[in-house]
Amino acid sequence: MSEVITIANQKGGVGKTTTAVNLSASLAVAGKKVLIIDIDPQANATTGLGFNRNDYEYNIYHVLIGQKKISDVILKTEIKTLDMVPSNIGLVGIEQEFSEQGGNFKLVLKNKISEVLSKYDYIILDSPPTLGSITVNALTASDSVIIPIQCEFYALEGLALILNTIKVVKKTTNPKLAIKGFLPTMYSSQNNLSKETVDNLKQHFENKLFKSNNEHGFVVVPRNVKLAESPSFGKPVILYDAKSAGSAAYQSLANCIME
Ligand SMILES: Nc1ncnc2c1ncn2[C@@H]1O[C@H](COP(=O)(O)OP(=O)(O)OP(=O)(O)O)[C@@H](O)[C@H]1O
Ligand SMILES: [Mg+2]
Repeated sequence: MSEVITIANQKGGVGKTTTAVNLSASLAVAGKKVLIIDIDPQANATTGLGFNRNDYEYNIYHVLIGQKKISDVILKTEIKTLDMVPSNIGLVGIEQEFSEQGGNFKLVLKNKISEVLSKYDYIILDSPPTLGSITVNALTASDSVIIPIQCEFYALEGLALILNTIKVVKKTTNPKLAIKGFLPTMYSSQNNLSKETVDNLKQHFENKLFKSNNEHGFVVVPRNVKLAESPSFGKPVILYDAKSAGSAAYQSLANCIME
């Protein structure tokens, strides 16, 4: 049975793409068959895995408008069991096209994914920093959602927005959608605000954190330069520096998902 997981938070720069790429790679290195789908017009997951526009003609946009099947646009990555559906800036046009389709647009991605569902253990979706029709499509197509939370002052502010979107999706297009968990990211032990964020998360959402036997008791992704550098080499961190603290955190997250 394939599990579809969206990485979402409408806040920009909180670690969605870093999580999508490195969770996917960690699951794949552990032997699972994984498809990562980039549904962000910024296409950071695509470039972060080493692809540029010259490597592919078609992308997720052509799938969503019905011009291509999802299997037509799948790319092989450096990891044998990790495949990718790329994105491109042209995907921005989809919001307009969806709005012209009326109420039916929410199910488009789910229907497209069904073609390849049986081929993968996990399908991971990297969503854009908005709660528009792309993210609603992703949540509608998913079994669950992981919400990365950057360890900073305004960390929990705005959380109500994504939680409300999830609630609406559950009520309308996807009753089985579950919150897989919250993932604190960019944690720095020297920073009191980082500690406060983690304490707050523990206080309010302890049962939605990913259990781990580290000093926190749950997976916390540290601020780690290897995580920031690896996309510029077109690699997930597990191929760039598998022993780094950043890679260890995403391997722990993958272990939680596989349990
Ligand atoms: N744990 C980390 N340690 C250090 N740098 C990180 C970490 N996580 C993410 N970054 C860096 O922070 C920036 C934002 O991360 P990322 O692109 O994953 O966020 P995002 O939520 O996908 O952003 P957007 O909302 O624009 O899609 C990137 O430059 C990334 O390399
Ligand atoms: Mg991103």
